Amino acid sequence: MNPSPLSGRTALVTGSTSGLGAGIAVALARAGGHVVVTGRTRTRGQQVVDRIQSSGGSAAFVAVDFSAGAAAVRELASAATRAAGGRLDILVNNVATLIQPAPTADVTDDQITDAFGVSVITPFLLTGLLAPAMAQRGDGAIVNIGSIAGINGAAGSALYGATKASVHLLTKAWAAEYGPSGVRVNAVAPGPIATERNEEFAHGIAPILQRIPSHRMSTVDEVASVVTFLAGPGAGNVHGAIWSIDGGTTAV
Ligand SMILES: NC(=O)c1ccc[n+]([C@@H]2O[C@H](COP(=O)([O-])OP(=O)(O)OC[C@H]3O[C@@H](n4cnc5c(N)ncnc54)[C@H](OP(=O)(O)O)[C@@H]3O)[C@@H](O)[C@H]2O)c1
Repeated sequence: MNPSPLSGRTALVTGSTSGLGAGIAVALARAGGHVVVTGRTRTRGQQVVDRIQSSGGSAAFVAVDFSAGAAAVRELASAATRAAGGRLDILVNNVATLIQPAPTADVTDDQITDAFGVSVITPFLLTGLLAPAMAQRGDGAIVNIGSIAGINGAAGSALYGATKASVHLLTKAWAAEYGPSGVRVNAVAPGPIATERNEEFAHGIAPILQRIPSHRMSTVDEVASVVTFLAGPGAGNVHGAIWSIDGGTTAV
């Protein structure tokens, strides 16, 4: 197996200062890619860059707050392309607003606007800004981070689930739009992941784990390795797929 399948490739991972995004950034760099790490928190972003560089990888940090809207997305696309040396080959649309479960009637207008703004409009705009250059070169890979919440309906998860179902549909629409130009667009749909944040809520997640055939969360590395595979040459003819990483939840 080629230990550096992404050698010479450049990647942007949104929301990569912590959690799954940081794990994806590390995994892409370990596979040989030059990775642009993004998020609002410069100190945490720099820590991810330091972690990559201390293992011999290549990375840079670009700060962004997607809550600021379309102008912030445009600025990030330009700054990240510069930080990648003028060309981005891989885009991982990972950033999302995580929403605590709540009855639909209790969800506020601001929560709806923020959730769709960060989790749907941001990847929509970013893909529109970066995919055309990939298509022009006839080469590129986009991996969207969905969720089982975008597949199975769950009481209290209407807003989060709707944003993730949108991400799944965008994956298929972009596979149809950009696939003929050599840009592969795919998604992963994880169940609960053992991020630092989820470890804090372990007691709340315990009953959910009982309903999962594997009885456990996925690790960050397990999800990051599938994302890395989808971004690389081993997945050369995989287009428009939404790969479940959920211990069997959506299969049974
Ligand atoms: N955790 C799970 O169990 C799970 C399960 C299924 C799917 N997912 C999906 O996996 C992805 C990552 O989730 P996670 O649990 O790793 O989330 P997380 O730990 O909350 O990380 C979110 C990342 O996004 C950045 N971010 C948040 N709001 C931002 C904004 N307005 N502008 C710029 N950056 C922003 C955060 O960095 P800053 O704070 O530095 O801005 C952080 O790097 C999401 O798409 C989520 O829906 C997660």
